[in-house]
Amino acid sequence: MTIRICPSILNADHTRLQQEIDRVATADLLHLDVMDNIFVPNQTFSIQECREIIEHSQIPVDSHLMIADPDRDAILYAEAGSASVTFHFEASTDPRATIAQLRKSGVRVGLAIKPKTSFEEVADLLSEIDMLLIMTVEPGFGGQSFMSDQLPKIERARSAISTLTKEFPWLQVDGGISLDTIALAARAGADTFVAGSAIYKAQNPAEMIAILRVAADF
Ligand code: DX5
Ligand code: ZN
Repeated sequence: MTIRICPSILNADHTRLQQEIDRVATADLLHLDVMDNIFVPNQTFSIQECREIIEHSQIPVDSHLMIADPDRDAILYAEAGSASVTFHFEASTDPRATIAQLRKSGVRVGLAIKPKTSFEEVADLLSEIDMLLIMTVEPGFGGQSFMSDQLPKIERARSAISTLTKEFPWLQVDGGISLDTIALAARAGADTFVAGSAIYKAQNPAEMIAILRVAADF
């Protein structure tokens, strides 16, 4: 299985963001957490800041939208140059239409679910998306503990994905991923791993990316 490591710059030093982005250039995707203080009780990057981050990043940007109205706004992050745009199922009133709109723009399409949302609620959308993101913390903040009660959900998603005969969707996990937890998520079936504090708290983020990659490849 191809393993992908996605550092989250939520946990980086925002006063020197460009250098922080450069420190993780050996990763597969740069994970960009967009929060609007409505869908989650925290606010991060404006659309203009997203454009600058995307322009600066040497690796493709994986935008994770924790915003109240993705049906209206997700397309902006595709137009800003994201490689993938992931929106929350819980925030969308018409996920199929938003998937179709994003797909038309050429961006890869991700769908995210919070810990209390079951895999079964999104199972019929699996063949339409490029990535399913199973949150392993409540979205909103970095540095929280991995919720191991999400592992059975990851297993069910992996078993459904394995019946599809195509490369997609990737199965991403986000929240509390570290050297202690990445193997658990990988064994359950995840192949794409967001890690924020584990990478940015390390002395050497590039080395941590390499170690996480090995730990996920069991
Ligand atoms: C949380 C964000 C995550 C967060 C992960 O809502 O979506 O991407 O940055 O941070 P860690 O790896 O520290 O849990
Ligand atoms: Zn995220």
